[in-house]
Amino acid sequence: MGQNTPYKKLDKLPPRKEKIETLEILKMDSKASRALGELKGIAETMPNQSILINAVVMQEAKDSSEIENIITTQDELYKAISSNQKLQNSAVKEVVNYRKAIFYGYELAKKQNFLKLKDVEEIQKIIIENNAGYRKTPGTVLKNDRTGKVVYTPPQDKDEILDLLSNFLEHFNIENKEVSPLISLAILHYQFESIHPFYDGNGRTGRILNILFLILNHLIDIPILYLSSFIIENKTEYYRLLNNVNKKNDWEPWITYMLKAVEFTSKKTIEKIKSITDLLNETIELVKEKAPKIYRKELIELLFEQPYSKIEYVVGKLHVERKAASRYLRNLEELGILKPQKIGRETIYINEKLIEILKH
Ligand SMILES: Nc1ncnc2c1ncn2[C@@H]1O[C@H](COP(=O)(O)OP(=O)(O)O)[C@@H](O)[C@H]1O
Ligand SMILES: [Mg+2]
Repeated sequence: MGQNTPYKKLDKLPPRKEKIETLEILKMDSKASRALGELKGIAETMPNQSILINAVVMQEAKDSSEIENIITTQDELYKAISSNQKLQNSAVKEVVNYRKAIFYGYELAKKQNFLKLKDVEEIQKIIIENNAGYRKTPGTVLKNDRTGKVVYTPPQDKDEILDLLSNFLEHFNIENKEVSPLISLAILHYQFESIHPFYDGNGRTGRILNILFLILNHLIDIPILYLSSFIIENKTEYYRLLNNVNKKNDWEPWITYMLKAVEFTSKKTIEKIKSITDLLNETIELVKEKAPKIYRKELIELLFEQPYSKIEYVVGKLHVERKAASRYLRNLEELGILKPQKIGRETIYINEKLIEILKH
């Protein structure tokens, strides 16, 4: 009774220019672009980029899922991907899927240089693990978590959804010379969430589309900029501002929110890269000095690519016997670089200092 927000037709892109290029937006846009440019430059100079990608993608999978109340820990996740045991916990499974979906999207974006309707559907399918695809039957509404009140009713008709999605993808894929790409990012994220094309997984799929958009526009070359940690810290705002665009066409606060998120997370990621690089170099020096016999650069890099390591990984990467691999890991444990932990019958070796950096 008076609870439901009736469906107000969602406008197609683009929004009116005067709504999206206010002074405040342009000011924030240049700050965010600068920070992101710096991140791009620093990431390029990192000698082993897979260290960074692995670490950051795992954190994002965790954070983006956490926005949707799917809660896990780094520890559970790394154990899940490094141990041979079958995944039991459904939250862990979803986060592991999310990570897979990011990599899937990233490879696809690089290869194709654009995304199709089918690709977006596939990304969502990897996360959710079902075949429902785009919404066909009505009934999906967005509710306030606490009060249960309907806050937004997305389009219900399947043809309207597909039509809006085609319009969305057209704007997602074209290189728009008129609007700054970070402003487009904010607009596109709003639009995708408001179309809400799936029964579930819209938030997470939309946040993967964000990084793919940055990649397609060459704003960053590797998938390392994610807004979820910022969104977690400012979650009420995230929902409120999305909603105010729906309700009042109030673009400016939403776009500046997203630009702030880009600036903040770019700077944070730069700090993270510095800390990781420092720790890597310190570790290399320590091993060279205290255990020169086992020192191999690839060995140390492995501990950073796989913060939860094990004998098989060392065997695979260094092409040594199990016995030697096991000895290396034990030596690294003696040096205080790794901490062993038993999972079933396996021993996993944890790079705890790295995990500590990744958490923040
Ligand atoms: N008022 C709103 N208007 C548009 N999108 C919204 C609004 N409120 C929340 N959202 C989006 O909906 C997402 C949640 O949708 P859902 O399909 O459950 O995704 P997931 O399963 O990934 O949680 C949020 O993360 C947010 O991006
Ligand atoms: Mg959900």
